[in-house]
Amino acid sequence: MIKTDFSGVDGFSIFPQFENAESACRTVTDPGGIYAEYNGWADLPDTISENLLTEITNTAKEINSQSKVVVILGAGGSYLGAKAAIDFLYSPNYNLIRKNTPIIFFAGDNLSAEYLQQIMHFVISKDFSVLAISKSGRTLETSVAFRTFQSLLKAKYGTGAAARTYIITDRNRGAFRKYADENGCTSFEVPENIGGRYSVLTPVGLLPMAISGIDIREVVAGASDERKNGHDRAVQYAAYRQALYSVGKKMEFLCAFEHNCRCFGEWWRQLFAESEGKNGQGIFPVFCDYTSDMHSIGQYIQEGERSMFETFLCFEEGRAHLLVPECDIDDGYDRLAGIDFNIMNRAVADGIADAHISGQVPVIQLTLPCISPRSLGALFYFFELSCGISAHMAGVNPFDQPGVEAYKKNFFPFLEKLI
Ligand code: PA5
Repeated sequence: MIKTDFSGVDGFSIFPQFENAESACRTVTDPGGIYAEYNGWADLPDTISENLLTEITNTAKEINSQSKVVVILGAGGSYLGAKAAIDFLYSPNYNLIRKNTPIIFFAGDNLSAEYLQQIMHFVISKDFSVLAISKSGRTLETSVAFRTFQSLLKAKYGTGAAARTYIITDRNRGAFRKYADENGCTSFEVPENIGGRYSVLTPVGLLPMAISGIDIREVVAGASDERKNGHDRAVQYAAYRQALYSVGKKMEFLCAFEHNCRCFGEWWRQLFAESEGKNGQGIFPVFCDYTSDMHSIGQYIQEGERSMFETFLCFEEGRAHLLVPECDIDDGYDRLAGIDFNIMNRAVADGIADAHISGQVPVIQLTLPCISPRSLGALFYFFELSCGISAHMAGVNPFDQPGVEAYKKNFFPFLEKLI
């Protein structure tokens, strides 16, 4: 389903990385191996139960029937996959174009009072529900946002607040689990052996997707196709990444030609940054929204330090078709009248690849047939697998994130100085 084109990295040998990548693939997906406590994501597309999928879709229906607005609270892996999916399959304008599904706000990933207060002011006059997602139940940003929206729910609905509070967290541990159990809130589990950034195909990603009306079975089916048929391309992609890194290509730019992919880029960035950025090494992941970003960092990519490679994300078919109209504006673009925007987008992608390869920026191309739930599921799985392989090849644990805790340790001492 995903076509890979490595002609833009032709000059780079992936020997011996290829063999290492093949063995890394077996290691990171082995359910009885060294990563057994983390790699529940690897067979998830084929082990997720029909009952759970039904429970998720039924809960989404319940939420949608009682609320015009849903506030989803989560940080990092607890929201990026869901937001990526909604933007990818609708657009960043989901709240404007949705039909018969609630307005969705994401919060709980930052400490901006203004951002939170704007949402509070908006929801207070509407029927709303809150979905709080935190595996640990102790993420600062999510916890304080949860407190804030619980107060608001209680102020508006009194004892009815619990029926509008949905929680996704660890099965047994943490403050969110305790709160859900004590208050009788509907809750789902984040499986023990799946970390935040690999959790998009658990209720963490699937419940928000279902609320927005996405066909979650199609997303899971796309991931399952990729699990069954995509190992070779993930191995090859991971091998090229490490081969390029070994010759000084220290940054990877994931470049998408659809605005809908912007948040997918954030999900991808977290996946690779948290998995590979360890022990003073790791490919730095950068997302580019082309052609938009050609007007900001295009100059650097063409002529700046030669330390990056690009991975293009393209679609054979655009979902919308729009022709450039005839017009009497003398802008030099008369030749484009009657041309589909998708054709222009393809031409520009080919042109950028050619220019960047000539400028010593290697380009890998990933092409999907179209923007669809299946393509999205395939992409999620492809990147999870290749990320696991690539990080393991680099000699780090792809599934932990010890560095993320460092700023949290400083929080209370620095807070004490301010209050
Ligand atoms: O990938 C990860 O594990 C992290 O990004 C977490 O998802 C993020 O820190 C949020 O953690 P939690 O779900 O425990 O609130």
